[in-house]
Amino acid sequence: MLKNKPIIGIIPTYNLSNEANDPYLDRASFVRMYEEKIVASGGIPVGLLHQNIENYLELCDGYLWPGGGKVWPDFYPVIEDAIKNKKPLLGICLGMQAIGAYFNFREEKDNKPNASLEEIKEILKEKEHYLKKLDDSSFHSHYVTKDKETIDKARHKILLAKKSLLYKVLNQDMMNVVSLHSVVLPYAAKDLTVSATSEDGVIEGIEYTKNDAQIIGVQYHPELEESSLIFDWLIDASYRKFLFIVNKQKEIPSIYQPNIILYKSEYPSCINDGNISAEVLSSWLALRNYMRSEGYYIEIESAYRSHEIQRKIYEENKAKYGDEHTNIFVAYPGHSEHETGLALDVCMKKDGIWLNEFDERLADFYVFLHRVCAKFGFILRYPEGKENVTGYHYEPWHLRYIGSPRIAQYIMDNHITLEEYENIKILNKKMT
Ligand code: DAL
Ligand code: ZN
Repeated sequence: MLKNKPIIGIIPTYNLSNEANDPYLDRASFVRMYEEKIVASGGIPVGLLHQNIENYLELCDGYLWPGGGKVWPDFYPVIEDAIKNKKPLLGICLGMQAIGAYFNFREEKDNKPNASLEEIKEILKEKEHYLKKLDDSSFHSHYVTKDKETIDKARHKILLAKKSLLYKVLNQDMMNVVSLHSVVLPYAAKDLTVSATSEDGVIEGIEYTKNDAQIIGVQYHPELEESSLIFDWLIDASYRKFLFIVNKQKEIPSIYQPNIILYKSEYPSCINDGNISAEVLSSWLALRNYMRSEGYYIEIESAYRSHEIQRKIYEENKAKYGDEHTNIFVAYPGHSEHETGLALDVCMKKDGIWLNEFDERLADFYVFLHRVCAKFGFILRYPEGKENVTGYHYEPWHLRYIGSPRIAQYIMDNHITLEEYENIKILNKKMT
């Protein structure tokens, strides 16, 4: 499948009806504001329906569980997929309560492995599970207002826990948020972190970050706010699988299995035909087409290399140019980004002649390429002046796909390397 934006699966609000006379009352619906926020942050919103949901969750890179009237446990496989495959999940209002309910349920099941489902349901009912009703006059209540003009009346203060992922994402410890709900999550299972509370002690945010998972639930309605930070996080975290470091110290992670696809480069001496990771192909094509439309006839000189090919290049380079040169230009087999299919060495045809590497006729091409590559999710991996960080000589031709254009832009604008970005650990902070 060719795509260069993450697919965010949205859970609908189900209004199931027992009204046999009007089957059209049975329906799922989606609120446009969520769709708009996801598009604005750079994702592709796709509606999820619950039948056979396990069969198509693999199409999604992240999830949004928005508000609604009732938690449908049919969608719990979404939470399980988010945990297992480290996909981000954002729960809003009822979505947060659904996540809380799932973890509370899981905890009871673990505590009482021999109890039947019915018994667990009874225990949870006693604990009020997730549905603790609020007084209609509560300042949280959605009876206050839903009118756009008076929405500010529905605001109240929440305090964010400083060590939480939510705090990292929003970068503030206190917010005045729009509150529209009539039930609250009465308690949070031990696996969850309470990331925000209101002054009357209501849980306003929960998260699950164990084993590198990224699940955030908020009681307030970020779709009504101007800030897009929480949606930016959802999209950026959906690209997380590409954001790993391969360098002289770090080998290709064993969990990463490149899915290599045929790309037939026009460059005559191209290594391995220019074959590339399937997940990068559409971004490469978009970059290629854009560069060509601007007058730069770009091509791939070398993208995916098998371990054996990298070894051959390494040995040949050593024999031809010696150890010192090889050490700063060629990665030891097992340590090359090219073995992931996420790195591209590019070249360009000018006046019928192929130019590559340090050919000075490429100077303006490289300037332009480095200015625009982030828009397509690529960074310059071995910048000039950063040799002591990367361990490699400046390679203006070597691009690395990291997925998120926002994070790529941050790295390029700040002239930093992937290693420096990792150290700053600001994946979820404001990127501009
Ligand atoms: N030229 C880069 C460092 C590689 O061989 O992967
Ligand atoms: Zn390279």
